[in-house]
Amino acid sequence: MNAKRFALASLLSAAVLVLLADPVAAQSTSADLINELNNKLLYIALPITLLVEVILIYAVLKFKDNDEPKPTKENRRLEITWTVATAFILLFVGVASYGVMADPSVTFTGGEDEIAPNDGDVHIEAQAYQWGWTMSYPEHDITVEGSGDGPTIMLPEGQDIYIGVGSRDVIHAFHVPDLGLKMDALPNDVQYIQTSDLEEGSYQGYCAEYCGLAHSNMYFTVEVVDQDTYDQWIADQTEADSADNAASNETANASA
Ligand code: CUA
Repeated sequence: MNAKRFALASLLSAAVLVLLADPVAAQSTSADLINELNNKLLYIALPITLLVEVILIYAVLKFKDNDEPKPTKENRRLEITWTVATAFILLFVGVASYGVMADPSVTFTGGEDEIAPNDGDVHIEAQAYQWGWTMSYPEHDITVEGSGDGPTIMLPEGQDIYIGVGSRDVIHAFHVPDLGLKMDALPNDVQYIQTSDLEEGSYQGYCAEYCGLAHSNMYFTVEVVDQDTYDQWIADQTEADSADNAASNETANASA
């Protein structure tokens, strides 16, 4: 009776803990999917952990003074039960994980040809090198080079975002944990990640693959803003670029 009460109390406190640990709203579709899966697996893992621990503690307390232990008897029904139960749990874990990992926001298998800039899709190329990032917007001829804390890329909330990740030298990795984005940066190859429904804010990104001496300096920032601010930023950058070009043309003309 005491053991039953103990088990019930443990289960209830676990349920309260899970409710308290519920994470805040997600910052992107990718992060949303990943966090949801984590929670599902937690809900499965917690009762199993508790059950095992309760049985363990019960057995230790109940049999600690048993000097003449008897071997356990075969119990076919019990064995079938735990085999079938385990199979169901593993099946659930497999199906739930596959559903998330096969989602384009987590594993994008498409390429550049699926990006439709005219429909508002945002296309960014992230080129890693030892040791930094060159971020560019190919459709707008904008390149953001970094200094200090690395480059800052601007993204509009609400649009589909495509980021092509590549490397100029060794293997790096593009990682923005809070947005649920991660992709290896391979030399001579561009792999795309896709996400959408970003939440406004500033997000830290960094290189997540050891790549040499200054690996830990490979930071960048992702700034998510509303559509108007983004459009204005793109316009400002384009203007700044053409002003630069005009200036260098003048210099060229003057020296000619
Ligand atoms: Cu680049 Cu680590």
